[in-house]
Amino acid sequence: MRALVVFESMFGNTQKVAEAIADGLSITMTADIVEVGSAGTSLEGIDLLVAGGPTHAFGMSRVSTRESAAGQAAGGVVSKSTGLREWLSEVRADGAVVATFDTKAIKPRLPGSAAHAARRMLRRRGFRPVAAPASFYVTGTTGPLAEGEEDRARAWGEQLGLAVT
Ligand SMILES: Cc1cc2nc3c(=O)[nH]c(=O)nc-3n(C[C@H](O)[C@H](O)[C@H](O)COP(=O)(O)O)c2cc1C
Repeated sequence: MRALVVFESMFGNTQKVAEAIADGLSITMTADIVEVGSAGTSLEGIDLLVAGGPTHAFGMSRVSTRESAAGQAAGGVVSKSTGLREWLSEVRADGAVVATFDTKAIKPRLPGSAAHAARRMLRRRGFRPVAAPASFYVTGTTGPLAEGEEDRARAWGEQLGLAVT
């Protein structure tokens, strides 16, 4: 089986989570990882899509929230060209099942999640979700990830791989 992990990230935290998830998935399947701006819109040959991004304003990022993030990123943002929302509106299911994840602030704990929003959008586009959306926590807007979150992401990826194989 073949998995593709597609991530959006401003300050690099969601990228780290995506890398850990791909690592966990690679125990049971071939797992590739790609930044959303470099991802194609065809998923031919992909059995499992794992898509994630940062939670911005209670959901997936928009141009305006990405601009706000860019203003806070000293060294520039990771995802410069587009966001998960835009990519999901164009990607074709091509038979792949899907799971979604996000990163969120640990404090204050706000409602809303990019992973839930992404899952809703993917459902509408004909994808079949195979796992509950997962959130991983950062200690501040720019990070770093809260302690243990990379390990939790790796374990989530491993479980996901076991569940679909
Ligand atoms: C414009 C903006 C809006 C945000 N809104 C939320 C929010 O509604 N809920 C939340 O938990 N975190 C929010 N955050 C914190 C982000 O989730 C955090 O920056 C992100 O998880 C970091 O991941 P990244 O380094 O991959 O971008 C927001 C951050 C920015 C820059």
